[in-house]
Amino acid sequence: MCGIFGFYFYDVRHSHQEIMNTLFDGLRRLEYRGYDSAGVSVDWPVQAEGESAPSSKPVVIKAKGKVDDLVKLVSEEINGFTFDPKAQVKAHAGIAHTRWATHGPPCARNSHPHVSSPEHEFVVVHNGTITNFRALKEFLMKEGETFESDTDTEIIPKLCKFLYSRLPEPIPFPQLVCEVVKQLEGAYALLFKSAVYPGELVACRRGSPLILGMKYGIQAAATPRTPQSPNTPLTPKLTGTSTHGPQFFDSAAPASGTAQPYGLELFLASEASAVVEHTKQVIYLEDNDIVHMKGGEYTVFNWSDVDSPSVEVRRTIQTLTMEVSQIMKGGYTHFMEKEIFEQAETIAQTMQGRVKITPLSPMKYAVPGIDPYLMPRVRMGGLVDHVATIRRSRRLMFIACGTSYHATMACRQTVEELTEIPVVLELASDLLDRRCPIFRDDTCIFVSQSGETADTFRALEYAKACGALCVGVTNTVGSAIARNTHCGIHINAGAEIGVASTKAYTSQIVAITMMSLVLSEDAISKRQRRDEIIDSLCNLPDMVRRALKLNDQIQQLATDLKEEQSCLVFGRGRNYATAMEAALKVKEVSYMHSEGINAGEMKHGPLALVDDKLPIVVISTMDTMHSKMAGVIQQLMARNGRLIVVANEEDDEMVDIVAGKYPIIQVPRVDDAIQPIINIIPLQLLSYHLTCLRGYNVDQPRNLAKSVTVT
Ligand code: F6R
Repeated sequence: MCGIFGFYFYDVRHSHQEIMNTLFDGLRRLEYRGYDSAGVSVDWPVQAEGESAPSSKPVVIKAKGKVDDLVKLVSEEINGFTFDPKAQVKAHAGIAHTRWATHGPPCARNSHPHVSSPEHEFVVVHNGTITNFRALKEFLMKEGETFESDTDTEIIPKLCKFLYSRLPEPIPFPQLVCEVVKQLEGAYALLFKSAVYPGELVACRRGSPLILGMKYGIQAAATPRTPQSPNTPLTPKLTGTSTHGPQFFDSAAPASGTAQPYGLELFLASEASAVVEHTKQVIYLEDNDIVHMKGGEYTVFNWSDVDSPSVEVRRTIQTLTMEVSQIMKGGYTHFMEKEIFEQAETIAQTMQGRVKITPLSPMKYAVPGIDPYLMPRVRMGGLVDHVATIRRSRRLMFIACGTSYHATMACRQTVEELTEIPVVLELASDLLDRRCPIFRDDTCIFVSQSGETADTFRALEYAKACGALCVGVTNTVGSAIARNTHCGIHINAGAEIGVASTKAYTSQIVAITMMSLVLSEDAISKRQRRDEIIDSLCNLPDMVRRALKLNDQIQQLATDLKEEQSCLVFGRGRNYATAMEAALKVKEVSYMHSEGINAGEMKHGPLALVDDKLPIVVISTMDTMHSKMAGVIQQLMARNGRLIVVANEEDDEMVDIVAGKYPIIQVPRVDDAIQPIINIIPLQLLSYHLTCLRGYNVDQPRNLAKSVTVT
């Protein structure tokens, strides 16, 4: 929630327009984290009255609405300044923000950047929540400060100004920031600019994610200069012990004879997706890190407790594996559409290197005298050292929110069946509300696409404090949950940009299924069952491709349903999860009321809703619930219900029952354990088409944002 982006360069030539475009592009990549309002602060040439030459000072421009509204406003505002957008500068620090409102309604006044005063001594963008802001605001008001916004963030630039004004002598910018953040409680990723520290940029984080990307030697400044020329640090000087640069610098340096490798660009962002188009070399900043950018250098500091000063630290540079194509729509109109259609590939990616794809189960090609199970068919590197401990657990407790929680629902039966360990599912927020008992011999598994969801992360902190083994199942390398769990699984579904989760859901089910296969590897009694599931996993990408061919039928169905106010989705067993997930998808993007119902509960209340108008999707594929679901369908038909049936391709019995009276969506059959993956696909498509037909923005549903980083 909220995205922040910073762009710093030194000894590189960029026009004002390029600076703005880089900031806007960064915001666009992050917009799915919040799209209530947006703002930027850049150094802009301003010509004060009576001055002959323009001077540079931070200006702040912000707008209610989407990034495009800001872009429009900037083009208008620019006309208010006397400057040439083509004019080039050689060094610059710009910061930007896209907001999901937590404190105060969306409006320009509450948008970021926030400032210390109209003089812009200090300018700040923030992702997170400051929990003690009221106390700090009260204190600052007593000191004579006035506040313009309802936000928690505004106290930060004001506090900078307050502390700065009381300094006996100036201190470096990062030191001042350190003193400020030591007063803050809660979570933050912050970027600072200042009129009193011109040309510098400071970034810091605690609790909220922040990535630093770096790019060297990209472009020569317009006037060629020798890197050795005195007094000008043209090659990036990597200060103190943070000597992560030289090796990288060497590897990034162009081959001899080409342009000199000087010039530095740095990017700060809430997520890797905003950085990857510029560079793949990144540092995942850690809690209490403060980065200072000044004069062609960056330095990372860290402070551990409020009484100690910050110290310079070394952070490892990592190479992003993400590809730029992942953050583009490709030939699709929307990210959600793209992400639904790439599921055959993303599921294969989740299994890649982990599931041994063999044409037949080991028993079917066993050589006499050789144990066909000598080589495991499923391997999960991230769990290897902890498998024995997990097998000895008293309980496996899955903890998640939203769609990720539904993935755990879809897998519960498989995990229980294969591991024979009691499985508990917890909504992260509810677990925290109850302070649910967790024991040292529990294994807690935290499932989160973003790896940043605040409730899930708080539950992780709680479970760790209780002494449980904590396992992460995430889609985001370097995320808070990935870094703070004892071990884990990267689902490797690629960046998910659509706010409504689709491909992460199906990959989560695959990952948890693989986990239960690994945990049951030693159980001879489970061999046959394991083989059935693994064989089916091997075919899964092809089956997903087949399910996606239903698109035209689903689009037609959406056309028939688009004017409806409400719908129900019935499922049972593993497909209760499918019903819940389908209902969530429909409501969150198309704004049609929808409710997932466990068909086993139908007679205990929901049946009263049934009439010939309310559309009811009934999931009745050929798993162990099949005959019970056939009974449910008969009972709904007896009450003249308006049904849409999801059944398997070879299910002639269901075709007979429905008898051409209702639409029937026929999906490929796979093993029961993974049938929910196939079943959700037409329903994801249904929510997508309903939304488009109803005229809403499918990638940015109102009031929502990706990564729910507030509790
Ligand atoms: C719905 C959706 C949300 C998320 C939930 C948890 O489409 O995306 O319900 O699943 O906010 O997010 P993660 O998985 O990032 O923890």
